[in-house]
Amino acid sequence: MNRSEAKQRIGDLRAEIQQHDYRYYVQDAPSVPDAEYDRLMRELQALESEYPEFVTPESPSQRVGGEPLDGFEAVRHETPMLSLANAFSEEEIHQFHDRVSRGLEIDHVEYVAEPKLDGVAISLRYTDGLLQLAATRGDGVTGENVTSNVRTIAAIPLQLKRRGKSGAWPAALEVRGEIYMPLAGFEAYNRRAREEGGKELVNPRNAAAGSLRQLDSRLTAQRPLAFYAYSIVASEGLPESHFDALALLKSWGFPVNPEIRRVRDAQGCIDYFIGMGRKRDRLPYDIDGVVFKVDSRDQQVTLGFVSRAPRWAIARKFPAQEEITRLIGIDVQVGRTGAITPVARLEPVFVGGVTVTNATLHNFDEIRRKDVREGDWVIVRRAGDVIPEVARVMTERREGEPPEFQMPQHCPVCGSAVERDEGEAVFRCTGGLVCGAQRIQSILHFASRRAMNIEGLGAKLVVQLVDAGLVNSVADLYRLEREQLAGLERMGEKSADNLLAELEKSKTPDLDRLLFALGVREVGEVTAASLARHLGSLEKIMAASEEELVEVPDVGPVVASHVRAFFNEPHNVEIIKELETAGLHWQAPETNEGEQPLAGQIWVLTGALGMPRARARTMLESLGARVTGSVSAKTTFVLAGEAAGAKLRKAESLGVEVLDEETFRTLLQSHGVSL
Ligand code: IVH
Repeated sequence: MNRSEAKQRIGDLRAEIQQHDYRYYVQDAPSVPDAEYDRLMRELQALESEYPEFVTPESPSQRVGGEPLDGFEAVRHETPMLSLANAFSEEEIHQFHDRVSRGLEIDHVEYVAEPKLDGVAISLRYTDGLLQLAATRGDGVTGENVTSNVRTIAAIPLQLKRRGKSGAWPAALEVRGEIYMPLAGFEAYNRRAREEGGKELVNPRNAAAGSLRQLDSRLTAQRPLAFYAYSIVASEGLPESHFDALALLKSWGFPVNPEIRRVRDAQGCIDYFIGMGRKRDRLPYDIDGVVFKVDSRDQQVTLGFVSRAPRWAIARKFPAQEEITRLIGIDVQVGRTGAITPVARLEPVFVGGVTVTNATLHNFDEIRRKDVREGDWVIVRRAGDVIPEVARVMTERREGEPPEFQMPQHCPVCGSAVERDEGEAVFRCTGGLVCGAQRIQSILHFASRRAMNIEGLGAKLVVQLVDAGLVNSVADLYRLEREQLAGLERMGEKSADNLLAELEKSKTPDLDRLLFALGVREVGEVTAASLARHLGSLEKIMAASEEELVEVPDVGPVVASHVRAFFNEPHNVEIIKELETAGLHWQAPETNEGEQPLAGQIWVLTGALGMPRARARTMLESLGARVTGSVSAKTTFVLAGEAAGAKLRKAESLGVEVLDEETFRTLLQSHGVSL
């Protein structure tokens, strides 16, 4: 290749890489597999190192970072970067909308509703379509010049895409938005830091802020940062509608959050807030609220500003998911399988919308890793319906040197020895059903809604029954008599009759429910259903060897060994016999052979789904489809959840049909699967 051919090829490669970046970051629809992208980038880098005279700052190869700085220069914002007023209740949304509609003297207002990303606000200035300056918000008037760091973020265009006349960008353009760290990147980064003994990032927001404040941009380049644009600052030539301006930003090559919607009036805003609240935990990034903005620019101008915030916008915040509190002590709880879980007792703290007094510490290793000690100040995290956990200890606030936590050597409930399974993080009480805690937990599990669904058999009653010696195993439940029950504290004859009726009703469970109810280690509902469907009867499951068990979808060697161990235990076999004697009989699942509408299809599941992936898999298999782990030309469908990555890209490049979860659910329902 001669010099002029090299120049031509460099230009072509840049254009091609930029187009792939656009498909990936802006359209969220990758056009080539990662390997192909890497190949193009390597070719570009090789040519540029051979012909350094053709290197330009806009080249996609220049995102690797440069020489460290001594400090960040101050940058004065041409237009101040404002903040937003907050609304803390539905009522305050109504008040906001009333103020807006009064100010505009109209009844109905169109708003744009946007997720409020928890990251770092950034101002990007472009001249003739080239990124010139990136500045943080600072105090709103003066920020810091972080251009060399921002240039390393692949989602931020160094050079804008050209559009037709109508959508041409102004020669001088300022775009604002949020730099954030996606959760997957945050977790991967911390996993690596842990393995390599490096420092972990505290949370995605701090991670984004800290990454942007690195003096060495080569370090920033290694942080998985992303970006969403949310406004254009320009004096003229902009669309009248903010929503249209966002579309324009997208056409120029800026990623714009796909959750953004146009909504109407206070009710539209409230509905959006509720919807995003439900979706929050499934998003691939943290949001701390939503922002509502009056869509019309003319209307924005009419409304103007008050102090440092616009009158035309408001943020509705979600309850914080992390709070600081004090750890009073560490207790241990004994679960159904004897697993001993350390639990933090906390000074009550309002987090994630509820008051939390206990938080899980997961296991012993986790306590050591986080260095949790009694009396510490800790950060408690509760995201959505997830069990609250101690996310981090503020060791900087620790006074003195409290002793490290020690795992008790004897079960606090039954006094049996506590042992640690080989190669496992979990400590267990070895007492089995001798241990009152395990007995109680296993009965509660048996009775729970998703197992035998025996209403009225709650924790208080089970404790009473076990303490009174009336119930030692789940089979004993079916031997209970009216007089025995009615004699218990807080138990009238009516409740006794109700419970007996419930027990009677539970005598004909589906096989998978019974199997789940028995509480075999690691056998959840999905695995139980799979075992029931593939082996057909309890006798066959009880008789199956480990080799036969691993043949069942969703059953691996660990589950197989637990199933075998459970049925090798004479006590468990005895209980099953007793259940049968008590009149229980379980229904084998219907086999829908002959009506397998998805027979012959090959599916691949990727990304985060709203349902457990194993469940999606079992349902597909029940309809005759085969589910595999990698995408090939033979794949019939790819089900892509949130934040799907390489597999989705591969499917697109091979032209394999991709379904989203909603379409998938509709498909299942059309085949009579109830969700
Ligand atoms: S609009 C005048 N839109 O929230 C309007 N801000 O207090 C100013 N933020 O730090 C900002 N997502 O970086 C706007 N979709 C969004 C946003 C957003 C996050 C941040 C912003 C600023 C804070 C506003």
